[in-house]
Amino acid sequence: MTEKTAESSRLKTITLKVNHKEYTVDVEPRMLLSDVLRDELRLTGTHVGCEHGVCGACTIMIDGRPVRSCLVFGVQADQANLVTVEGLESEDGELHPLQKGFWEKHGLQCGFCTPGMLMTACHLLEHNPHPSREEIREAISGNLCRCTGYQGIVDAVEYAAKEMRERAE
Ligand code: FES
Ligand code: FES
Repeated sequence: MTEKTAESSRLKTITLKVNHKEYTVDVEPRMLLSDVLRDELRLTGTHVGCEHGVCGACTIMIDGRPVRSCLVFGVQADQANLVTVEGLESEDGELHPLQKGFWEKHGLQCGFCTPGMLMTACHLLEHNPHPSREEIREAISGNLCRCTGYQGIVDAVEYAAKEMRERAE
């Protein structure tokens, strides 16, 4: 078997639904989902920090649940529905209330943690439209930020919660 044939025989074909779009890609079984998103699909909004499940920067939604994409192999997400930070804004380009909140309340500095923060906060607000500051802090406690001191992030999530409640009325 030539080297090239051996390499292609290791590849697995997977289908991912990401932000309502379907992608079919050939990946090595050892490839992390975070790397599939960034390197194969060019969805580089998902950031990779620790690659050990610690920092939360790579958090995306898989079938409606926040998951660290560095702890999942791409092949494990075959046929799953994924939402990444690129999927937060509406189709007409309007920012999600959380994105607006981070903008308005200075919820970021370098922005490295921001995609994971947004996805984690999004899951919180889907399940708790009126979170207390303590609940917001608890929800984002698994997402590390080295810059902001978290105050602006909590303010941003509060801002988004209010805006989402007003939109729902
Ligand atoms: S890169 Fe996945 S948790 Fe840090
Ligand atoms: S804004 Fe820099 S790590 Fe959070």
